[in-house]
Amino acid sequence: MRSEHVQEHFQQAGYHVLEYPFFDNNAIPYVQVWHAKDRSFKMCCSVVGDWLFLDDRLATTVHGVPEKTVLLSKFRSLLGEVMLGPYAALTAHAMQGVDCSGKTVIDLGCGDGVLSLVALKKGATHVIGVASENKYSSLMRGHMLANNYSAEKYQFIQGNICDEHITDELPVHDIGVVVANLGPHYGTVDVAAVRLLDHLPSCNFFVGGGYSLSNPQYRKSPFSAMHVKHMLREQGFTFFSDVREDSGDQFHRLSFVARRF
Ligand SMILES: C[S@@+](CC[C@H](N)C(=O)[O-])C[C@H]1O[C@@H](n2cnc3c(N)ncnc32)[C@H](O)[C@@H]1O
Repeated sequence: MRSEHVQEHFQQAGYHVLEYPFFDNNAIPYVQVWHAKDRSFKMCCSVVGDWLFLDDRLATTVHGVPEKTVLLSKFRSLLGEVMLGPYAALTAHAMQGVDCSGKTVIDLGCGDGVLSLVALKKGATHVIGVASENKYSSLMRGHMLANNYSAEKYQFIQGNICDEHITDELPVHDIGVVVANLGPHYGTVDVAAVRLLDHLPSCNFFVGGGYSLSNPQYRKSPFSAMHVKHMLREQGFTFFSDVREDSGDQFHRLSFVARRF
């Protein structure tokens, strides 16, 4: 079953299905599936491109789930939050262009680890999630268990990305991909994420998220990715591909992939 059929499945079963109309000019399907619980709506499934993010309790109700499926324990994920969800979805989609196979991936500001799971599904041998709050440790572990990933596949580090000693805890020579869905929402942590590259000689992919479109109209936006892209060029990254929300929404969210050869 393909992910768009999963959408039909939920529609027929009476769930509230919301197609997100302005996601990269609708070139990328982005669908949120909600169900009512205690008179409030709770997201239980999201389709992002070819990928399906599904509440693990519903896994058996969807027959023939697509290969690219990430199960989320009770969907307790930032992907299910109204404001943060689309940032995570854009970054997950940007990761489709990244070769994670056989690599160690670091997920900076990992939250519940939803992007670490995408990296593992894309063949990463090991993921390291870094988050400032310890509450995410158990959420990440729950999601890993839901997808049958054993403890050797992942590591959770509670730490501050801006702390220069953070590298003491990292296998700096092994890390091949940095994922940082941070943006400037948390001060200069996104800048600190790029500075970490000074210590990661094997890293050739950087996935950034949490930004806003840097077209002329938004050039002065404090959420523009221009500053970090400039820093990445100085680090030898030459290829950038953007995934963006195009119009109709005030946020114009943006994620990107940078690559060095
Ligand atoms: C936008 S959320 C992204 C979460 C997850 N990666 C996702 O895509 O759904 C960013 C996370 O980074 C964490 N964060 C912000 N500043 C940080 C810092 N200096 N060190 C570690 N984590 C930080 C926040 O607490 C938050 O959970």
